[in-house]
Amino acid sequence: MRLLVTGGAGYVGSVCAAHLVDAGHTVTVLDDLSTGHRDAVPDGARFAEGDLAQIAGDVLGEGVDGAGYDGVLHFAARSLVGESVARPELYWSGNVVTSLALLEAMRAHGVPRLVFSSTAATYGEPEQVPIREDAPTRPTNPYGASKLAIDHAIGSYARAHGIAAVSLRYFNVAGAHGRFGERHAVETHLIPIVLQVAAGQRESVSVYGDDWPTPDGTCVRDYVHVDDLAAAHLLALDHARPGEHGIYNLGSGAGFSVREVLEACRAVTGHPIPAVTAPRRDGDPAVLVASSEAATAALGWRPQHTDLARIVGDAWRFTQHRLSLV
Ligand code: UFG
Repeated sequence: MRLLVTGGAGYVGSVCAAHLVDAGHTVTVLDDLSTGHRDAVPDGARFAEGDLAQIAGDVLGEGVDGAGYDGVLHFAARSLVGESVARPELYWSGNVVTSLALLEAMRAHGVPRLVFSSTAATYGEPEQVPIREDAPTRPTNPYGASKLAIDHAIGSYARAHGIAAVSLRYFNVAGAHGRFGERHAVETHLIPIVLQVAAGQRESVSVYGDDWPTPDGTCVRDYVHVDDLAAAHLLALDHARPGEHGIYNLGSGAGFSVREVLEACRAVTGHPIPAVTAPRRDGDPAVLVASSEAATAALGWRPQHTDLARIVGDAWRFTQHRLSLV
């Protein structure tokens, strides 16, 4: 297929773009490089640099090799929960307004398929774990609210305009795919922060609260390997049906506490990784674990890399690779 990958120079977008190229698709990456990296665009993909809201129409209208695009995978977004609380305007314009412009450009140029990066943050504090897709959606921050608003917009476009759409709600994405991995200027995610300690770039890691109602008192999350996530996107492209909007959670179905993640990182890196207990972080739910039964039933998706040591090991190899470049 001829595919446009927005945000394809970012973490999840670059890994998915690499998988799409490997699978034989014709890929164009569109990214403004505000948080992505030019060298994360995989070899074999075309690259269009610019603001999505401004250039999506031109890129889709131009097509590839004289033919129109068959689909869009939409990763481009702002995704920092804390930033979204402090500066919500960035999320309403950067995520919602931009996505509406993309939907309009797709409609104008008759692009039939869309796979969208949604998030577990659309659910907010869960009433039941594991979280299913019919759980209430009550996001606790503007990041999750902006993604939920886009999900609603996509559903209505699918029904009214016949787009074949799938939203994939990621839980805690981790790991790396060779030279493609997590490289944020401002890092807030647990595993990369812990690996920065192992790499000598930080003294210690703060554990945000050890008095949560969980077995060891630290928060529990569902870590899903970025390669498994990419596999789900390829399946979603194949299974998307005109006029329908499928919504699927993507997690490994197992929860690991912050302390368990620390232990796995110590075992993989051989570094003691000092940890300091700190106050709870605002907006953190105690436990977030996905039910991915719907993705398995509808898409045939089964995560392959659910072992925490494997996930951390791939992220650690990526961290070492980046260090070897400086
Ligand atoms: N944590 C620490 N110390 C740190 C960083 C994180 O203890 O330095 C803890 C957090 O409190 C949390 C867990 O590690 O309990 C995981 O935190 P991350 O920041 O890695 O991930 P989140 O669970 O906060 O975020 C994920 C996705 C978001 C999504 C959110 C849904 O990355 O995009 O789940 O709530 F919005």
